[in-house]
Formats: sequence, C-alpha cells, structure tokens
Amino acid sequence: MTDDGDGAIEARLSDREYVRPPAKFVGQANVSDPTVYDRFDEFPDGFEEYAELLDWDEPWDEVFDGSNPPFFEWFTGGKLNVSHNCIDRHLPERKNETALLWEGEDGDTQRISYLDLYREVNEMAAALRSIGVEEDDVVTLHLPMLPALPITMLACARIGAPHSEVFAGFSASALADRIDDAGSNVVVTVDGYYRRGDLLNHKQKADEAIEEADTDVDTLLVWSRHGADHLHEDVSLVEGRDVLVEELLDEHRRERVDPVSRDAEDPLFLMYTSGTTGAPKGCQHRTGGYLAYAAGTSKYVLDIKPEDTYWCAADIGWITGHSYIVYGPLALGTTSVMREGAPDHPHRGIVWEVAEKYDVDVFHTSPTAVRMFMKWGEEIPAEYDFDFRHLTTVGEPIQPEAWWWYHEHIGRGDAVIVDTWWQTETGGHLITNLPALADMKPGSAGKPAPGIQPAIYDDAGEPMDPGTGEAGNLVIERPWPGMLQTVYGDDERFIATYWERFSDTDSDDWTDWTYEAGDGAVQEEDGYFRILGRLDDVMNVAGHRLGTMELESAVAEVDDVAEAAVAARRDEQKGEVPDVYVTVRDGVEEGETVRERIVAAIEAEIGAFARPANVVFVDDLPKTRSGKIMRRLLENISNDDELGNTTTLRDPSVPERIREQVHGD
Ligand code: WTA
Repeated sequence: MTDDGDGAIEARLSDREYVRPPAKFVGQANVSDPTVYDRFDEFPDGFEEYAELLDWDEPWDEVFDGSNPPFFEWFTGGKLNVSHNCIDRHLPERKNETALLWEGEDGDTQRISYLDLYREVNEMAAALRSIGVEEDDVVTLHLPMLPALPITMLACARIGAPHSEVFAGFSASALADRIDDAGSNVVVTVDGYYRRGDLLNHKQKADEAIEEADTDVDTLLVWSRHGADHLHEDVSLVEGRDVLVEELLDEHRRERVDPVSRDAEDPLFLMYTSGTTGAPKGCQHRTGGYLAYAAGTSKYVLDIKPEDTYWCAADIGWITGHSYIVYGPLALGTTSVMREGAPDHPHRGIVWEVAEKYDVDVFHTSPTAVRMFMKWGEEIPAEYDFDFRHLTTVGEPIQPEAWWWYHEHIGRGDAVIVDTWWQTETGGHLITNLPALADMKPGSAGKPAPGIQPAIYDDAGEPMDPGTGEAGNLVIERPWPGMLQTVYGDDERFIATYWERFSDTDSDDWTDWTYEAGDGAVQEEDGYFRILGRLDDVMNVAGHRLGTMELESAVAEVDDVAEAAVAARRDEQKGEVPDVYVTVRDGVEEGETVRERIVAAIEAEIGAFARPANVVFVDDLPKTRSGKIMRRLLENISNDDELGNTTTLRDPSVPERIREQVHGD
C-alpha cells in the first residue's frame, strides 16, 4: 500500500451507500439473531458456540488459557480428531451425500460421497502409516487441485501428522526451503495436472526440491493424474524412494484406521507465508481452536448449510482453501466444489458453466477474479443459468466498481455479498459482516466478526478514533481460537513479527498483548473497517502474498545483477504487481538477456506466479546516507505518485533520474 492518493480515494468513497441484504436471504440465514454479537462478547466463553459445532472425544476444561502470552491456548484439555469431524460423524445421516465435487480442466469429473471420502481417507491414512509416518511427523504436500489433496490432508489429520501443503505453483526451490524448515522426511506429490490444456510435469519439481533440500526425504509419494498405469510420459520413479500412491493403496483396500484423539492444542497443519524478511514463515495452526473457528465462520459468515452446494474458487494450496474449501465446509457436512486449472480454459464461461451444472448456492472468489470477469464482459455470465444466494470476496480490497459488478452480474441483484478480511495467520475471517445482520457497504470489509476486537492504532501505539478518515495500523486486541499458535520452530520470530510492536512484552497479563496485522485500515464512523493493504514489504499480487525480500533475493541470484530492489505497482487487474529495479555489474550489458535471466531466477526461486511486470535497468538505486535502499521512492515512481522528501538521500537526484527513465519527460 502507499499512502499517496488516499485523499482521492477518501472523497470517492465517503458518500457510499449501504445495500440491504435481500429479505429472501435474511429469512433463511443461519444467523439472524443480533444477540450473537453480545453472546460472543462474553470473552472467552462466547467462542464455545463454535466449539459446540464439533464432536469432541473429551470436553475441554478451559475455553482459553492466556497465562503465557502470546502463546494462547484454546479449549485446553479437550480432545478431538479433525477427520472424524469432517467425515465419520456425517456418515449416519449423509453417507451418500456428496462431500467433494471435482471438476478436471479436461472435463473429467468426480463426485465423492462422504462414504467414498471415508474409505479413501482411511486407506490413505493406512498407507501413510505403512511407510512410517507417525503422529506429529510433519508431512509436506505439493499437490494441485485434485481430490488427492484434501484426501491426503484428511488422512494426515486422521493419524495426527501435521501437513504442510505448498501451493503447486511454487517452484522446486521454494518447495525445498519449506521441506527443510518443516523437517519433512515424507513428501507427497502427483505426476502431473492440467493448466490451460497442458498436462504439466509436476513431479519434476519434487525431484529437484529433494535434491536441493538438506533434509533426507526417504519417501516421495506420487499420486497419478490418470492412474498409476498412465503416468505422465516424462516422469520416472527413483528406486527405493518413490512410491506410487495408487499401488500402495491397493495394499490397504478396505482398511480402517481409528482417528487419533488429538489434544485441542496439537498442531493440525503448517502454512508458509511471506513476511518482511527472507525466509517464509510456517504459520502453525492448532487442532481444536482452528477447526472450531473455521467451522463456525463457515456457518455464520458463509451461511453454509449441509444441503448446499458451495464453491470457493480458490486454491487449497493457500489458507483460503484450507479453511473454506476443506475444513470448514466439510466439518459442516456440505458439498464443496473444487476445480483444477485456469478460469479461462477451455473457455471464459467455464466458471459459470460449472456453477450452473451443479446449481451452486454459495460462491466465493477474489476481487482479482471479479475484475477479470468484469474485463471479459457481462455477456459471458449472462449466458448461464446460475443462481447464487450468497457471494464472498477475500484476499484484497474490492473497489466499489467491481463490487457493484459482482452484485449485479453474478449476484443478479439478489445475492448477499460478504467481503471477508483475514490472513494466513488468523485461520479464519476476522472482519466481515454476518450477512443477515448488517447492511453491505461496497468497498468496506464491514464490522468485526463475533468476538473479534480489531482497532486502529497510530504509529505510537495509541488507539485512533473511528470516523476521522485517517488510516492507521490494524491490530486485534483480543485473542481468538483460529489464531496461529506460533511460527513453526521460531517462537521469537512469532513474537517479533506479530506482537512486539504494540504489546508490553514484559507483561504476563494477556490483555497487554496486541496482535499486529501488518495492514493499514480506516475505521469509519459506523464501525465498519476499510482495509487499505499491507504496510510492510509484502505485496498482494492477484490475492497471492509475496515478500519483496523473497523477490529481491531471487534476483540477487543472477550474476549479472549488482543490486536489486522490488517495488509494488498498483495494477488494475491484479491489485499489485512487482516492478524490479536493478543495477548491473561492471561490464555487463543491460538488456533482454539479463532481463530473461532475472525472470527465470524468480520463476526458479519462487514460481511463475511471481513473475515481475517490469524489469527496469538503472544506474543507481535511491539510498539513504547509510546505504539503505529506499523502496518507498521506487514504489512512488512505479505508481507515478509524488516523490516526497528526497533530501535525506545520499544522491537526491537519483529518484528523479529514474522517474524520467520510467515515465519520460
Ligand atoms: C489482504 C488471505 C482487503 C490483507 C486470506 C491481508 C484483504 C492479506 C482482505 C492476507 C480483504 C485479505 N480486504 N485486504 N477482504 N483479505 N486481505 O495471508 O493485506 O494470503 O493482510 O490470507 O491479504 O493474505 P493471506
């Protein structure tokens, strides 16, 4: 985010109108009693309402234990199993109902009932055990949008092995870093998957990652997109290390594995996310509090009912897919749709074709996707007969124009829309309206979710009054069950990243600890929050979180490069895109070859989704007298904003020169 231009946005948004939820929606909503907010304000007991949505093997002794801040504990003493909660307990009533509806990009489909899922997860759990996976071993997954992904996650959960799924678009190097950080000896991949008509060789990335990783990976489990007899033609297996999942499953047909009763505080999974420093952080999520929060918000915010067909068109490789494709919806016993491949393949109407085919009731996507659909034109959705009662957006701020388009052309004027603000770290929604209880306001995430206490602090840590129109730091003043437990293996980093700035870290009173979200936001007079974007060196590219440091260290791998800095440029379509500014070493010729090397390095270190929009060769980067690169100035140049004060620079003429180079005159 840049502060510049805020004034203009302010003026445009100040007279925004409210939009009432349609009466048709309110009449059937899961939550329409406004006392829900008062119930959850009974801290911490209000959150029991979410925990009560689950089956517990042992009840909890205490809802919340804040005695060792910021290592908060939830539902202590309670025991449960997540795969039991997402599968087994639904069998008596719903075994023949569909749990997962999978659409392959090539037109292949699978309808997986709760009974099918039960069988497959049990067999996979038995298979994992047979290769030596034990309770508390972290298993790294590098799986795309295939049924194999939720099946493997749930099988891990069944035996109490935390999973660490790495988005399939991440490169071999990114996978290697995450395997090492998690110390995984078992990795799970697939031979290939479809993206825009091509069957990609996906296993190759795991091969390279295992080679690069320091950790010994003894077993690479390989699912197959078209069955074990039809492996991708370029894939080969490494003797003694690689095991075809289908062949292994054949040895465990019809086996049953008792779900391991896990302590509420035992970790369920890791999800790596970008931060301001180089290495990605493994956000560690607990079993009881996380599932309670994911299930609770799925029911209260997304309004999911067991008989619904629900489609969150995100990727399970990110937190949104974990909480709102797999765990929340399945805990509620609903039908969750998942789709492989790109939204414009085989044609630009495919999303609406699938929505029509399955009669999807609740649809969930990102503002980037909405802007893309908008660009493609409203004639496309108009051709399909879908009927949504509820729409969600997540991941980035949605501009009122895109919101209205979504409302009119996808919601057809009578669907409710929730804009959900949250993070990998938070496990579930923190700021969003309960759809039947608050009017929508295009461009605003809305009110705090039940029991959540956000606030805006100035840089000195003083709370700012709502309604001033001024932006500040978004913080959360009270813990909640879905919050991360820690950064895997690095408690100090957990404290330094999220707590240090606005907490009294010497205090053992939990009320002195405040969570720093890293976002800038404005609280309006009506209590609604408008999220502006990251305040740190993290950018949001098409809803994917990327650290500028990660990009810069990838660029630094290129020998021709002397120095590099990455700036976020606002992009109409993707929200933000990275611009790379580089100086080359003496004797190196700037130009296409070096540019290609830089792009290739980013693809190799992170993944193709992080490709820069521009590579700008410059003579010098703007630096302070102590030699610190001033990214903010580059960001201003990229966005053609005012440069502001440059007098503290070592060479104050640098930014102006770069600006002329980029924008001319
Ligand atoms: C941004 C995704 C505005 C924000 C669930 C946050 C949003 C980061 C919204 C987390 C929203 C998420 N409006 N901005 N509704 N939702 N963000 O970890 O900057 O991938 O800090 O989690 O996305 O991204 P993450």
